[in-house]
Amino acid sequence: MAEGGDERIDLPGWPGHVWLEGRTLVHMQEEQERPTHMPRGPAKRTGPGFLNPAMAPARTRSVMLLADALEHDWLVKADRPIRALDALCATGVRIRRWRNEIPGPLQQRLRITANDLDEFALAWAATSHELHPPSTPVEHEAEDDRHGQKSSAVFDNGLHFQRLDARMAMVDAAYQWVDLDPFGSPIQFLDAALQSLSRTGVLEVTATDTAALTGSSASSQARRYQAKGIVDEYAHDDAVRLLVGTVATTAARLDKVVTPLLALFDGHHVRISLLVRTSKSEATAIGKSIGWRVRTEGVPYQFVQHPTPEQLPNASGPLWIGPLWHKDIAGRMTEARALELCSPSAEEITEYQKAGLVWGDDDIEYSGRELRRSVRYIAQAADLMSREHLLLNLDALPRLAGVGGAPKMDKLLESLAEMGHASARYPDLEPMLVTDAPFDDVIQAVKNARDSTD
Ligand SMILES: C[S@@+](CC[C@H](N)C(=O)[O-])C[C@H]1O[C@@H](n2cnc3c(N)ncnc32)[C@H](O)[C@@H]1O
Repeated sequence: MAEGGDERIDLPGWPGHVWLEGRTLVHMQEEQERPTHMPRGPAKRTGPGFLNPAMAPARTRSVMLLADALEHDWLVKADRPIRALDALCATGVRIRRWRNEIPGPLQQRLRITANDLDEFALAWAATSHELHPPSTPVEHEAEDDRHGQKSSAVFDNGLHFQRLDARMAMVDAAYQWVDLDPFGSPIQFLDAALQSLSRTGVLEVTATDTAALTGSSASSQARRYQAKGIVDEYAHDDAVRLLVGTVATTAARLDKVVTPLLALFDGHHVRISLLVRTSKSEATAIGKSIGWRVRTEGVPYQFVQHPTPEQLPNASGPLWIGPLWHKDIAGRMTEARALELCSPSAEEITEYQKAGLVWGDDDIEYSGRELRRSVRYIAQAADLMSREHLLLNLDALPRLAGVGGAPKMDKLLESLAEMGHASARYPDLEPMLVTDAPFDDVIQAVKNARDSTD
């Protein structure tokens, strides 16, 4: 692993080209294309040290969530530190963003460990960190590890790099925050991650095996998740719920219970953030939150605990049927907050340009748009997503309502509000909405919204 300046010279391909993600300068390898500001879908992987720009929005939300935990003290008591592990950190962009973009006064309470098996990726991460240190210098003492010994971890200006199999890293120490961002499925890391968490902790998980999670690859889904899917307009929501359900049942086996904070299908991956607590009694009650989505006559779907044999052909599951977001925490994920935390100032841009960033006015404009897009619609939908709701695809409504075309989204939301119901746009590439209205009222609202447009 490269830690010193001299080794940087030996790092093949260094310095690559310089890019800005959030407020953090990153080095991308020369063979990686210059990203666009709104990359979607899986990027072409270029071997070890690959940085996927399509994951930038997920990393922005991760910065916001960790900042929120420190600021609002919902994970540890005020003034207590949070030990965070990025178990599969690759070139270290997430941990460097945590260090650079979470406000300075909170930084002293963060202990960040960055782990990866790949030597080259770690060297790239350490070299980037050394050359572009965090704006707030961070120094802290090593703490006691889970065996009561003084940890031997050495924090180099706020980051401790280590090269271990992630499962070993998680068995070795206890953390309050674990991030799992593997290539493909996270299944092989879940047990160790859950055991690594303190009595109360946060687990953030990325899964890119969306074919298995949605059920478009039925055999992988059955083998990996013991589930069956239906590939329709609810496949993305099912994928999110299947991953939450899988973590929740794995946690229950370890006497732990999960509370989802935010869970999304984002283009080509599923990303879930869960609060995990040790509680035997609540873990015993896990069955109440696991069930099936049954497509039915009359309403698009309903959740049931156990489908009847007649319902089974139209059912997907078993999956998480409880709330998917936390009202207050997701409610604070506003576009203004994303910009406040992660948008560079004019002075920072000038400084970064001196360090090799080739950015014009368009780049600055587009990066702001991307930051806003990372959290678009989340705060507005947070209340509904934290309680029972109906999820609907606008494009499916004409068929269900027996009308000629879809109403405009804004008109439909207005019409539902006039009828006394809460509703909000849901963040998805498809035009999705959530509402607490009974389905019959939605149909009426669709008709009203269309009439008012005509
Ligand atoms: C998708 S990348 C991580 C991306 C990174 N989180 C980011 O935001 O750029 C997956 C990483 O997992 C690492 N990896 C795969 N298996 C591992 C294991 N068993 N232990 C530790 N690292 C592993 C790979 O070297 C790779 O860097």
